[in-house]
Amino acid sequence: MKTIIEPFRIKVVEPIKITDRACRERVLAEAHHNLFLVHAADVTIDLLTDSGTAAMSAEQWSAIMSGDESYAGSRSFYRFEKVAKDLTGFTHIIPVHQGRAAEKILFGIVGGAGKVVPANSHFDTTRANVEYTGAQALDLLIPEGRDPVRDHPFKGNIDLEALENCLETHRRDRVPLVLLTVTNNSGGGQPVSLENIRAARAIARRHGVPLFLDACRFAENAYFIKLREPGQATRPVRDIAREMFSLADGCTMSAKKDGLVNIGGFLGLNDDDLAVRARNLTILIEGFPTYGGLAGRDLEAMAQGLLEVLEEDYLNYRFISTAYLGRHLQEAGVPILLPVGGHAVYLDARRFVPHIEPRDFPAQALACELYLEAGIRGVEIGSLMFGTNDPQTGRPRPVAMELVRLAIPRRVYTQSHVDYVVEAIQDVFRHRDRIQGLEIISEAPFLRHFTAHLRPVIRP
Ligand code: F0G
Repeated sequence: MKTIIEPFRIKVVEPIKITDRACRERVLAEAHHNLFLVHAADVTIDLLTDSGTAAMSAEQWSAIMSGDESYAGSRSFYRFEKVAKDLTGFTHIIPVHQGRAAEKILFGIVGGAGKVVPANSHFDTTRANVEYTGAQALDLLIPEGRDPVRDHPFKGNIDLEALENCLETHRRDRVPLVLLTVTNNSGGGQPVSLENIRAARAIARRHGVPLFLDACRFAENAYFIKLREPGQATRPVRDIAREMFSLADGCTMSAKKDGLVNIGGFLGLNDDDLAVRARNLTILIEGFPTYGGLAGRDLEAMAQGLLEVLEEDYLNYRFISTAYLGRHLQEAGVPILLPVGGHAVYLDARRFVPHIEPRDFPAQALACELYLEAGIRGVEIGSLMFGTNDPQTGRPRPVAMELVRLAIPRRVYTQSHVDYVVEAIQDVFRHRDRIQGLEIISEAPFLRHFTAHLRPVIRP
């Protein structure tokens, strides 16, 4: 059969609101052209993030009913710990409420002023947690990974020569670990090859530095390896995932992605001393180390999610549906980041709306137009999120890329939802000349994209 179907039936439905343009115009004006300020109830298709938005399975919901809510040593913890150990092979598994808590605990111990943390790319919460300790977060992505149109099967790979130079330049005690983000979210959800993980491990080993994975999307990365890496096609994806973890000395994990849960995460470690210190910090900020800021029922759902995410029918459907969105947009001439990553399709606003000047937030303008056209919510990853203002003129400075990320929640939308998104974007593309730029009318001193107020800019 040619058609890849959703490998599930729908048992519970959640209504979504179908709105008209007049309603959406009112909502967007009330939200000051900031989609973070739009109520989710006014969104028809929500592609803001793939984090914490998965639909749980009947098995997960039934596991939730058997959650053991004991404060210490709950049965649910031991079930979760077993699943996570079987998968990762790490000696210590410490649950936390989400990925950034694992980052905060890890870098709170190994970070600090004068330290350097090399990675392919740090996700923004990872970078923030590294920098908060006074350490430097270094992105050493291969050059292909920074080019939005260059084709390469593993655009998430770390530049091995740059890594070698970094470890030679800095003393071993200044580099607490090397981090590989799989898949590389900040670079478009691009995978890291097994060969690259092996080579990065060999370099790190030689310099006596541990290798860690930011494993949020480990299953998607493992599936990319199966599809694209020579010699991997016939291996079960679970084996590939296990090998990825076996090459590392630890991991941070946001289970809100490939854990198929709405909340949860963990820290995986092999180093006994580090684990003692991490557990002590966990008690301080998350809770006793057998629940780590989660309810027993959350641990049950996470254990089950970690098993289901490696089912190959699920991964095949996930890849096909993300690639389907990308392919149909590409066929219609819509400029997107290539190749399509695992969890999202990114519209390239610079080529989509070239008439909007960089200072007028082209990607935010495009994201707003998608909402107005069809009630679709994506997220701007461009000068609103990353830009800074020129201290002389007060004008925004341009950034490397102006993107709108359309992240696909796991197991939530069907093909007709995706068809609707394709049609809407094609319509917006046809009338792209009419899209107007925006200007900021108020903003916070940091992380302004979450709360900024904007309005259409009128230029003569
Ligand atoms: N690392 C990566 C690669 C991520 O994508 C995220 C979250 C985190 C760490 C932090 O995990 O949210 O559980 O604390 N990414 C979300 C996103 C927010 O929309 O891409 P968290």
